[in-house]
This record gives sequence, structure tokens and C-alpha cells, in this order.
Amino acid sequence: MTLTEREMSTITAQVNGKSVEVPEGSTILDACREVGLELPTLCYGPTMTAANACRVCVVELEGSRTLVPSCSRALEDGMVIKTGTERAQHSRRLVLELLGSASELDRSGDQLDSWMRAARAESDRFGPNAATVATPPKIEDDLYVRDYGRCILCYRCVDACGVEHQNTFAITVAGRGFEAHIATEFDVALPDSACVYCGNCIAVCPTGALVGRVEFDMREDDTWDVSRQEVTRTVCAYCGVGCNLDLHTQDGEIVSVTSPHDHDVTLGNLCIKGRFGWSFVSSGKDD
Ligand code: SF4
Ligand code: SF4
Ligand code: FES
Repeated sequence: MTLTEREMSTITAQVNGKSVEVPEGSTILDACREVGLELPTLCYGPTMTAANACRVCVVELEGSRTLVPSCSRALEDGMVIKTGTERAQHSRRLVLELLGSASELDRSGDQLDSWMRAARAESDRFGPNAATVATPPKIEDDLYVRDYGRCILCYRCVDACGVEHQNTFAITVAGRGFEAHIATEFDVALPDSACVYCGNCIAVCPTGALVGRVEFDMREDDTWDVSRQEVTRTVCAYCGVGCNLDLHTQDGEIVSVTSPHDHDVTLGNLCIKGRFGWSFVSSGKDD
């Protein structure tokens, strides 16, 4: 078999009774998406390798004693997968409810909201006395805020800062059990750490625990309003790399800058200049 033929070979499996054919190397999640199914994924994102940390994506695999994480389990020929069994639904709902009871998820955005609704997960399921990870936001500079009371320990920021994208390794998980938390080396403040302020951790955080300072302040003032915001695609002019930028504007002012996750060069990543070097645009505007 030539390499080209091997690259083009496919796997056939069954998802919820439907036959599906996907390229070799696909995951169970890829097969589910191929038949139009939307499964929640928290530790796995569009630009990340699955960390296998959250288990919110589990499905039933015929012949397997346990539920399997669809984001990381490689699809094999002839697999029979069911996503809607009582056991799979119960497990996904419980994970979302435990995360929702421990962390503030009210700034997580539409996607997590819709996954919570689809799973019929109730954040207050364990009552007002459930243990939480509540902690004051870390506001240490003008660029971004770490609000770990909203953190679900998905590892995305750790991996984005480390092996997946930035290779800076400024943050990791410290502590054990309920004390586990994202920390810089020796828990020093961000400006004193190895952080280079690329903000690539913000780009992958699914809960709003990591957030630009402007957005954080506007949310605190209750002026952040996505329905009044426009997004304009442009090219960063700071250097010759030419990263694509999405400028998010509200009332004619830039309020945040992101990069498209589906860009095959940046994969949603930027450097400090592209992500944060825009406040000069409105400097002196009201003078
Ligand atoms: S800060 Fe965000 S990206 Fe990092 S572990 Fe917590 S929820 Fe995940
Ligand atoms: S975001 Fe950074 S690397 Fe990309 S074009 Fe701008 S200055 Fe260059
Ligand atoms: S998304 Fe699959 S284990 Fe987290």
C-alpha cells in the first residue's frame, strides 16, 4: 500500500444506528460530528489536543465496560457507539453539575450554556452549601485578569502556554484535590512570572476565568454587551508575520482582539503586540 493510499483509507463505524465513514486517524468525536451530533467538550478545543481531564464528552462503546472519552479515543473499524444512553447522559450531566456547583459559570458564553441546557444540568443541584473554588480575581496589570473562581481546571491554558502553542510554561496545576489550582511558579504575581503576555491562554479558556482587562472592567461596570459588538477581520501591522486579527468593537471602540481559531498559521494565537497593543487607537479621542 502506498503512503497516499494509506492516508486516504477510511474507517466505518456506527453512531446511534447510523453508518459513518471517516478518515483513518479520526476520533469517536469526529465520527459523532460527521453525523451531526454536538457533544460537549471542555478540556478539548478546536486548537488543542485532548487533555482527557474533564470527561464531559463520554459516550457508550459497545463491548467496553466503561464509558469512553470521545475526544481522545481513536475510532476503530466496526465500533458501535451510542451517545444518548441513560448512563452516558447521566454521566455528562453529573460532570457539568459538579463543575457548575464549584465554579461560577455565568460568563462562559453561549456554547457552555447550550451544553448545560442540552444535558439538563442544574448548577444549583447540590444546594447553596456546596463547596466552591470561589477566590478573588487576580488583577495584577492592565492587560488581563485571572478570575479563578470561574476555573474548571480543564488544563487548556496550561497546555496553550506550554507544549501546545507558546512553549513558555509560565503556568501549571499546583495543589491536590479541591486545593488544585492554576498557578505560576511559586504562585508569584503574573508580572513577576515567566509569562510573556501573549494572551494565548485567554483564547482557549472556555469559562471566562481568563479575560482581557478591558472586558473584565466592562463586565464589572455592566457595560459589556456582545449584542452591540461588531467583529472586523484585519491583519496585524506590527511585524512581517502578518497574523489575522479580529477586532471586537463596541460603540466605535476596540474592546478586545482575538485571532481566528481556524487560521492554519496562527491557530488563534497572537503575541502581546497583536493581542493587547491597540489602546493607542482611541488615545486622545476625547481631547
Ligand atoms: S483558567 Fe480557564 S483554561 Fe485555564 S484551567 Fe481554568 S478554565 Fe481551563
Ligand atoms: S500578532 Fe505579533 S507575531 Fe503576529 S503579526 Fe502581530 S506582532 Fe507579528
Ligand atoms: S473533552 Fe473529552 S475528556 Fe474533556
